[in-house]
Amino acid sequence: MTKFYELSTAERIAQLHTEGAIGDDDLRVLSDEPALPTAVATNMVENQIGNFPVPLGLADHFVVDGEALRVPMAVEEPSVIAAASNAAHRIARAGGFRTSVRRDGITAQIVFMKDDSSSRSDNGDENVSVQMPSQVRQVNKNADGFAINNQQNHDSLQSDNGGLMTFVREHEAQIRKVAHDAHPSLQTHGGGLRKIGVSASAEGFSEIDLLVDPGHAMGANVVNTIAEAVARYCAERLGGLDLLMAILSNDARDQRAQSEARIDFDNLPTRDMDGEQVARRIVAAARFAQISPLRAATHNKGIMNGIGAVVLATGNDTRNINAAAYADLNEQRRTWTNWTIDKKHRQLVGNIDIPLPLGSVGGAMSTLPMAKLSLKFLHNPDASRLMGIVASVGLASNLAAMRALVTRGIQDGHMNLQYKSLAMSAGARPDELQQIVAGLRADPAKASLKTATNLVNQLRNTLK
Ligand code: MEV
Repeated sequence: MTKFYELSTAERIAQLHTEGAIGDDDLRVLSDEPALPTAVATNMVENQIGNFPVPLGLADHFVVDGEALRVPMAVEEPSVIAAASNAAHRIARAGGFRTSVRRDGITAQIVFMKDDSSSRSDNGDENVSVQMPSQVRQVNKNADGFAINNQQNHDSLQSDNGGLMTFVREHEAQIRKVAHDAHPSLQTHGGGLRKIGVSASAEGFSEIDLLVDPGHAMGANVVNTIAEAVARYCAERLGGLDLLMAILSNDARDQRAQSEARIDFDNLPTRDMDGEQVARRIVAAARFAQISPLRAATHNKGIMNGIGAVVLATGNDTRNINAAAYADLNEQRRTWTNWTIDKKHRQLVGNIDIPLPLGSVGGAMSTLPMAKLSLKFLHNPDASRLMGIVASVGLASNLAAMRALVTRGIQDGHMNLQYKSLAMSAGARPDELQQIVAGLRADPAKASLKTATNLVNQLRNTLK
């Protein structure tokens, strides 16, 4: 049977239609009609003049917690989908990915600074320079979720964080009500304000932190709406502190996904290396990323290749995901993945643990037809399930990149796709592609857009 990747685009769409993976409406979205009607796009951004399509492909062979999936990926880099599919296939043979997810909420910061109205000079110029907090201090949290600053002796802090802690303790019930009233439907969707904390930073900043469970939404709108409502309530009642801002934090340490993958040594060999050797070299490559910042940056880019593509395809916010992922790293933790050997089972074992503040409803997910279709391919997952799938794609991308790197090198696999891309840029038609790619492959040193254009012209001349 012809493999999915060997079909033409039209044949793939027809097969998906026959399989029932897509319906008649989806066919229209996937046809050449604009998938994003101007009537929708013009209301999404300011000054809209067009759309910017990138290819949407399906990564094959994913099995996540026992469910087989084709994963939609929107990406311009030629090798990303092929690489993810290839790794997912090896992983599927040992049972697929096993995921676990923690979705405790998004933190919003309501930031105050000491009221500086008393420190203006006579001519009205301000003589206080405001700097951003350099370090948020540790907080202790008691059982009911009220967090208390445990370091009150900083010289720039007023006692009790300028009265903030006492204020929050005395107004906790009202704050919870304000939060609820700001977005009453959130509770019916399983979300709501989970914790209220108070902490202080150097230089006189202090903050109320709200941990808000956004239900199955990504959360930016709901969390910011609640934060601003609570901020207004507090600012109107607090003396001596000046409200600076209220905004969610993209540090999403409480929205995490983990995925584990196992690959039998027997599913890893290359032409010139046995599977165990490949596995050991992959473990070494992963270890090197943990000790080399230069390598970690690239290792992580490989993981984000997969993650970013699914995030974009599902209409989630790619910048938010990047910000959250990178906020999780530091000198002790340079990457989100870890690879080890299970000697007993003769397997390579990979784990990923990464913040992924994704949503499965709301925002662009509900407006973009392509995003809706992508979610359909994933069997309309809730946000937790989507997090597990996306983490798994990141792990697969990481495996594919490392396996190529520690064996034949990355260019060997990349070049075919690069040649295809050059051929298409040179105007090759689908029926001409194979010959142009073969021509470029014959002399890699000369492969360029100019050579591809010459090859296209030569081919057409010989056929005249
Ligand atoms: C290229 O887009 C990504 C890689 O460089 C990742 C890696 O080196 O691990 C291949």
